[in-house]
Amino acid sequence: MKVNITGASHFVNRMFEACGTYQWAREFLVNSLEANATRVEFGIEWQGVKKHGIYRRTISDNADGMTGEELIRFFSTLGAGGKKIGGIHENFGVGAKIASLPWNPEGVVVISYKNRRAAMIWIVLDPDSGEYELIEFDVNGQKTCAPVPSVIDGIDWNAASPAWLREHGTMVVLMGSKRQPDTVLGNADAAESNIKDLSLYLNTRFWDLSRYDVRVAELRSERKNLWPQKPNERNASRRPNNRRILGACYFLTQFKAPRGGKLNDSGTLPIDGDRVSADWYLSEGERPAFIHTRKTQVISRSSIRANSFRSPRTRRIFAGSGSPKVPFSKT
Ligand SMILES: Nc1ncnc2c1ncn2[C@@H]1O[C@H](COP(=O)(O)OP(=O)(O)OP(=O)(O)O)[C@@H](O)[C@H]1O
Ligand SMILES: [Mg+2]
Repeated sequence: MKVNITGASHFVNRMFEACGTYQWAREFLVNSLEANATRVEFGIEWQGVKKHGIYRRTISDNADGMTGEELIRFFSTLGAGGKKIGGIHENFGVGAKIASLPWNPEGVVVISYKNRRAAMIWIVLDPDSGEYELIEFDVNGQKTCAPVPSVIDGIDWNAASPAWLREHGTMVVLMGSKRQPDTVLGNADAAESNIKDLSLYLNTRFWDLSRYDVRVAELRSERKNLWPQKPNERNASRRPNNRRILGACYFLTQFKAPRGGKLNDSGTLPIDGDRVSADWYLSEGERPAFIHTRKTQVISRSSIRANSFRSPRTRRIFAGSGSPKVPFSKT
């Protein structure tokens, strides 16, 4: 079943070129939060690890979930969310499909549970036509694009998701490409290869996630031969670090740097005839590490955008003093 726009793949690829790194993570997290998730986990698909030695990134939530029909409706059409792309007061996103499909030609699998009933879809790039489409499955002679999750290509998709989303919730699995099947770190072709960058991105791209339980299963080494073998890995140097993501607000206002740096003062400055208020933060001593690990320009842009998700009329400005050395610290 083709994605319902003529030339969709060209449209998707051109939009994708405008995406920054890790935009896919922003889109999936926003989708989950918009669907009422209180818990979102950027995890690892473990059957692929055990059977094929492949580490695929998953995004699981306990949001409302989708029926098979809804999965087909929302994921076979671009812009099914019906939201404008790029408007300042609307959703700033480009949508999860656009941010993920171009670097996952092997597909994006979406498994969803609603009222304890499960369905799955698998969107792929058809190499012959160059178009994205939903794989059609044959279940006892019946053709369907949204089967009940079962064993496909050696993976039991019904057992793949965490138990806590089986009442209602969704798990997305990023299947990568033939050349880059490991998606756990992100899009290798876009240099998404640092083990801490996904957490860092989410912590700077979102302003306040403290009301949600958002976590990233973070690897401890860039070397694949040191990655975990199973979910309950006993070896502490291999076991994923299950990092809570709180958002930039926490790091600016609550965080205390190891050598005594902390927030000194903050306030709000009306600018442009009260049309915009700028929140400012002045830190004392060492600043929260994450400010230094990315370019300032990225911080300010991301915080403005993250902020537009909540209240579009406030901008945040960061200022401070002190030495910028600490690596991104553990929470
Ligand atoms: N995790 C989820 N839980 C429940 N519903 C979801 C989830 N993810 C997506 N949806 C549904 O699928 C729709 C499409 O999501 P997606 O982000 O792919 O769309 P889009 O058409 O690119 O729109 P947008 O620009 O709003 O992101 C959403 O509007 C929502 O109804
Ligand atoms: Mg969306």
